Amino acid sequence: MADAPYDRSTQDVGNIVALEHVNVTVPDQELAALFYVTGLGFTRDPYIDFGTANMWVNLGSQQFHLPKREAQVLRGTIGVVVPSLAELRKRLQRLEKHDGARLAGTRYTCAEGEGGTVTLTCPWGNRLRVHEAGQDFGGLRLGLPYVEFDVSPGAAPGIARFYREVLDAPATTLDLGGRAAADVRVGTAQALRFVETDGPIAPYDGHHIAVYLANFSRPYRVLAERGLISMETNESEYRFQDIVDLDRGAVLFTIEHEVRSMRHPMFGRELVNRNAAQNIFRYQSGADAFVGVTHGGRG
Ligand SMILES: [Fe+2]
Repeated sequence: MADAPYDRSTQDVGNIVALEHVNVTVPDQELAALFYVTGLGFTRDPYIDFGTANMWVNLGSQQFHLPKREAQVLRGTIGVVVPSLAELRKRLQRLEKHDGARLAGTRYTCAEGEGGTVTLTCPWGNRLRVHEAGQDFGGLRLGLPYVEFDVSPGAAPGIARFYREVLDAPATTLDLGGRAAADVRVGTAQALRFVETDGPIAPYDGHHIAVYLANFSRPYRVLAERGLISMETNESEYRFQDIVDLDRGAVLFTIEHEVRSMRHPMFGRELVNRNAAQNIFRYQSGADAFVGVTHGGRG
């Protein structure tokens, strides 16, 4: 047999087929809209409406879910991709100019980050790293390619093993700028990363992420045998929150996973996205919609 000309394993997709939303509660919907919609340029979901009790914000094929309650803060950094960082900077400058009084006294920050990114802190402390669309993340132009969690020293190998053996997800340990990390592949171009830090890690406050699984039942059985199922939501959804050392049972990190099957009615839902560069001063007819949401970030 001739030598194999390609490494076919590079094309494999693991059992976690999509990271769909990050859910963090916010105490003030108006301020949240200023940050996520006006500043970041994302789109309030026009179909699923909760009045002032909750707000879903679309970015490509992913969402932020923002129920109104005392603020939750994700223990890490949320990676997002926007079509243009130059446009983002303009929107943020306008936001700071017109609504600076609303942002004053909050935890909002905006700075230039490593590798040509922009780093933002939401008014309640959630950290975002904003990348400009390019070749990374499967060519994603708008979306949420990864969430990076801060974990305790020594936790990364056990976390990678948990995702491999319980969730059937490809997961490796790697060096991220001198810090050990577990890198869990999601879909074709998304990831969950768990990066070891010597710094303090805040107590878990109940925020969550939502993922979809191809094989939904085997991870359920393994989690249930270990007593790790935290919510039996319905036929196509369950939740767990503790990532454990599979030998000792010790909790390595806690983050609620809303786990959905691909038969969940919202899997692959088409999300409305606007062209955030559109405005009334330089209005372009026919350019209201953001065209070309790839599924690069969703798989
Ligand atoms: Fe959720």
